[in-house]
Amino acid sequence: MALWGGRFSTGPDQAFKQFNDSLPFDYQLVEQDIVGSIAWAGALRQVEVLSSDEYDQLVAGLNALLDESLENMASIANSGFEDIHSFVEAKLIEKVGELGKKLHTGRSRNDQVATDFRLWCRQTAEQIVTALKSFQGALVELAQRELGTILPGYTHLQRAQPVLFSHWCMAYVEMLNRDISRLSDAIDRLNECPLGSGALAGTAYPIDREELAQQLGFQRATRNSLDAVSDRDFVVEILSCASISMMHLSRLAEDMIFYNSGESGFIELADNVTSGSSLMPQKKNPDALELIRGKTGRVFGAFSAMMMTLKALPLAYNKDMQEDKEGLFDALPTWIACIHMAESCIRGVKVNADATLKAAQGGHANATELADYLVAKGIPFREGHHIVGQLVQVAIAQQKCLEELSIAEFQSICPQIDDDVYPRLEIAACIAARQALGGTSLPQVRTAIQQFKSKG
Ligand code: ARG
Repeated sequence: MALWGGRFSTGPDQAFKQFNDSLPFDYQLVEQDIVGSIAWAGALRQVEVLSSDEYDQLVAGLNALLDESLENMASIANSGFEDIHSFVEAKLIEKVGELGKKLHTGRSRNDQVATDFRLWCRQTAEQIVTALKSFQGALVELAQRELGTILPGYTHLQRAQPVLFSHWCMAYVEMLNRDISRLSDAIDRLNECPLGSGALAGTAYPIDREELAQQLGFQRATRNSLDAVSDRDFVVEILSCASISMMHLSRLAEDMIFYNSGESGFIELADNVTSGSSLMPQKKNPDALELIRGKTGRVFGAFSAMMMTLKALPLAYNKDMQEDKEGLFDALPTWIACIHMAESCIRGVKVNADATLKAAQGGHANATELADYLVAKGIPFREGHHIVGQLVQVAIAQQKCLEELSIAEFQSICPQIDDDVYPRLEIAACIAARQALGGTSLPQVRTAIQQFKSKG
């Protein structure tokens, strides 16, 4: 049954076969393997290894096989062949007879698998770009809906300065912009066709490889056959894009889990992304977000496993490289599922603007504003910072906010403080002051939303 049986007098033992076979997972490349084979048949016809008639028969057989395979992908997995390339070749021979045995002329599974996998990565990465864009759309919609909502901004998980809730939404839009741009770069770099590199030294047939690359929708043909069959940088790059993006999603998840907690009560997640407790009837747990946070670990794991596998591998192909698939086949669907789930959480979220405002008003989050007020009175910032620190101590001792201190209390620490301090300490003033580019003032946040929307 193996493609390479001629050299062997006995077959592999069962345990080795199971250990060696990749069909249980690389069956997912069936479409790419057949599409690649059709293009290869075209190249063989051009160099007259196949007649036009033979080419037509092979293509008809491959297309029929493609239709059958797509109907029942899972059955391919346990059909007992070594890998997807062996499966396609054997099934083609079943369909078209001896002619099927000509297809592998001048080709190796090494350039074949590199081509199939790049095709799969390109297609999947393009779906991920679409998912990321849709998620951005949801965040921007939420930003528009909650334009007036004020949220405490945190550093060290201590209330630091108030921000617009929409500013928080747009922060994640920025992160997703970088995810999209990184992934688009990776797609651009992987968009080269290894087919025609043979096992390692190049093919012995005068194939027009640029033409072949174009047939398969690649930008260009790879330049060096040794590199082409041993390069898995594209897997590393996509897993790195996935890891960075999952890190972003995990931060969003963590923010939302905290905002959804009984302690803050800033948001309420929709019922359709939460679950209950088998024991405690009152519970509504943020499972979707916790799973996004949790699944981040396995995507990072796939990335580091790939790096470890490739480290110090000699040129060219080594069987170690078969380990490139399972991690990616797990990581990318995980990434897509997490993007969709994060989008559902954002689309269904209710924001409790009273709770966010109340929290933003507490915690002396307007202290920086008071220091800036002192700067306007001619006091150097460092000195103003110290004075405000003392005023915060006074306020804490009396269990008051800064704006609840009397003028006498203010002046006991700093005589320059006057009645005009109160409007400056209002939360709206703190927000409005941040009008430089990228700040949380309403015009800046509106501009950010507009810029995103006009970019399309
Ligand atoms: N199943 C193999 C893989 O995924 C295909 C390439 C096999 N090449 C070889 N020389 N044994 O890497």
